[in-house]
Amino acid sequence: MSQFSQSIGEDGSINKRHLFGTLCAAFVVYSAAVYTSGTDATHLPPMSDEARLGQTIYQDKNCMACHQFYGLGGYMGPDLTNVISNRGEAYAGAFIASGTARMPDFGLTQDEVAALVAFLGFVDQTGTYPPRNYEVAWTGIVAQEDDPR
Ligand code: HEC
Repeated sequence: MSQFSQSIGEDGSINKRHLFGTLCAAFVVYSAAVYTSGTDATHLPPMSDEARLGQTIYQDKNCMACHQFYGLGGYMGPDLTNVISNRGEAYAGAFIASGTARMPDFGLTQDEVAALVAFLGFVDQTGTYPPRNYEVAWTGIVAQEDDPR
């Protein structure tokens, strides 16, 4: 006999204590599964030291004040999620090295520019924005055809 059917008595009455206990147990089991399943993106190569340095510079210079990843950030400049695959490293590097009339020149060294380009390259591998060719499975999980997963 299942847990649930035990909650219904012979006369059809519902044993509230039993039902409550079953729901609590389900909650605990489900929470434990969610909290222990981890969030590692196993399909991604680990971030290189250069990309890590680039991430630090990205944060130091507050690039996200004007730029977005996956649509989140400031809106003065374009989204940078896939700038490397859409425009290329040389193009991105040129903007970062010299700025434009609308983007400041941060006076970065060549190594710092290369690190930022490496970081943008890493972000590029994490997915596609805006999402294209996606399907929502019955489980509610969204799978995207051109995602690296
Ligand atoms: C004050 C706002 C601002 C900040 C801060 C800023 N940018 Fe920009 N960025 C822009 C704007 C605006 C553009 C579009 C420039 C244009 O078309 O003239 C741009 C363009 C770019 C591009 C080219 C994107 C494309 O698709 O054409 C890259 C790459 C870039 N920025 C990287 C960075 C990085 C890395 C930082 C931090 C070091 C940074 N930006 C900080 C405003 C900013």
